[in-house]
Amino acid sequence: SGNATITVLGKEYPTDDFTNLPNSIANLTSRKLHLQPSHPIGILRSLIESRLKDLGFTSYNDFKPVVSTYENFDALGFPEDHPGRSKTDTYYINEKTLLRTHTSAHESECFQTCETPGYLISADVYRRDTIDRTHYPAFHQMEGARVWSRTEHGDNLAKVIQEDLESIPDSGIIVSDPDPPFHEGNPRQPTMSELETELIGKHLKKTIELLMGHVFHQAREAAIKAGSTDPDLFSPIKARWIEAYFPWTSPSWEIEIWWKGEWLEMCGCGVVKHEVLSGAGVGDKIGWAFGIGLERTAMILFGVPDIRLFWSEDERFLSQFKPNTVSTFKPYSKYPGTFRDVAFWCDMAKEVHINDLMEVVRSIGGDLVENVSLIDEFVHPKTKQKSQCYRINYQSMDRSLTNAEINDLQDAVVSSLSTQFPI
Ligand code: PHE
Repeated sequence: SGNATITVLGKEYPTDDFTNLPNSIANLTSRKLHLQPSHPIGILRSLIESRLKDLGFTSYNDFKPVVSTYENFDALGFPEDHPGRSKTDTYYINEKTLLRTHTSAHESECFQTCETPGYLISADVYRRDTIDRTHYPAFHQMEGARVWSRTEHGDNLAKVIQEDLESIPDSGIIVSDPDPPFHEGNPRQPTMSELETELIGKHLKKTIELLMGHVFHQAREAAIKAGSTDPDLFSPIKARWIEAYFPWTSPSWEIEIWWKGEWLEMCGCGVVKHEVLSGAGVGDKIGWAFGIGLERTAMILFGVPDIRLFWSEDERFLSQFKPNTVSTFKPYSKYPGTFRDVAFWCDMAKEVHINDLMEVVRSIGGDLVENVSLIDEFVHPKTKQKSQCYRINYQSMDRSLTNAEINDLQDAVVSSLSTQFPI
């Protein structure tokens, strides 16, 4: 079908061999949860925005989710063979057009056009992924960036960054920062001095600590108010920095926060590469960028146990939240779940990617699928054929499912799997 098209947000796009965007996912682009003042994602967005506003950050919240492969990958220096580019990981509209997989897709444009030295971008992003309590094919991120101009500050540049650094309020959290010396794997850029790199890294870390402190202090208050007696809630909030790698920043880091007995990775960040800034026409600037996942943070802040709830249109969920207010979600009911297993022989010549299998299950079960996990794998000793068994948990957020209904879904899953992945 040479002239097939797909419509996203009212616009038609030609399809091709790359097209793998189901309508069910395309339809999520109109939800814009981050713009709803009474939705946890919207509340969290404005909570962070209001904390950073007087530090000179402008917010952009209306970027469209359809972007080019250039914006999402090339402008950021993703290598040709980066797994993020793969059809198994990304929703393609066609070979050159996709649903953004991160808000970094808009960094270049913002570096080019944003008039304040700092900006925040909040938006919905899309990734093909596994199905469980913390993963959903659509979610939200907030990007932050801050730059300084060599043209504007000349020889004063380091002094200006130092002053800006000193003006960031204290976060009130305890941070351990090994501050690893910049090494081969995560080097300082040749276009920046050691002092500039150090000051920008510190400015970045202090800003993120401020933001995290703001969010986690509120999360802690809400948890205490809801009756939690976890002793960690009554001692200072702890964070630590670890090294990370992103194609468009160097050096790069990630912050981890101690919450309910484990270290949670909260936010990737780094010093923006010169190539990205010069590609955006502002090669005289230096600065940093970060990206934070809003669902992950909102699950902690509002005590939401399952990521699917954010997409619920049930009043029992939506009516619990008020603008500019952090409150703990009260489960209205735990509807029972049921599992069904599906086992099949794998085509050894053409292995099925787990995300493709997930997409089949999702396209049939939608939000009724809570979790899919590989529970058994078996290689036949003689034929060397491999079989896999997946367990699908069916559970609704809003109602009880009948056995007949689940059987119908499971039959549809099984028959779709056998037509899409024949052996
Ligand atoms: N875009 C990255 C992600 O999705 C996060 C990030 C943003 C990292 C900006 C560095 C700088 O994981």
